[in-house]
Amino acid sequence: MEITAIYPGSFDPITNGHIDIISRGLNIFHKIIIAVMNHPGKKSLFTAEERKEMIEEIYGDEARIEVDVFKGLLVDYVEQRGANVIVRGLRVVSDFEYEMQMAQMNRKLDTRIETVFMMPREIYSYLSSSLIKEIASYGGNIDCFVPKSIKTRLEAKFNAPPDA
Ligand code: PNS
Repeated sequence: MEITAIYPGSFDPITNGHIDIISRGLNIFHKIIIAVMNHPGKKSLFTAEERKEMIEEIYGDEARIEVDVFKGLLVDYVEQRGANVIVRGLRVVSDFEYEMQMAQMNRKLDTRIETVFMMPREIYSYLSSSLIKEIASYGGNIDCFVPKSIKTRLEAKFNAPPDA
């Protein structure tokens, strides 16, 4: 049976940690739909369309990856796509409480849905999009944390005039 998994997140921006999870996911699932969503509590640096475009640049013609933008409830999106698996990365124990709460709530909202957790390589366990943005905003070195195309986008964002 060919299983399609939904990998939702803010991806503001996508990092090597996310990319590591996606690679692992492709070893298990036939197709992964990367769903760029807005986290209600976070103000994003990039628009959802920019985030989608940045991910598409990385995956190019990879037929088993699709990138999409969705505003609304994750369970509604999963249903809409005819899927029933959500993939989430678990980096450290402190991620667990929030992730478990979301997984349980999503399962309550839609009993068909299973959340599968995957662990990235240890070197990405302390990596987050928020830290990358902070380091990039001060001109720090992020070379080993994001692809070159993402680094270029971050530099452009932080070097742009305030209302650009
Ligand atoms: O990368 P993030 O910010 O940790 O991703 C969180 C995200 C976007 C997956 C989560 O906030 C989400 O699912 N948002 C969509 C709205 C929703 O369904 N909320 C209820 C979750 S139980």
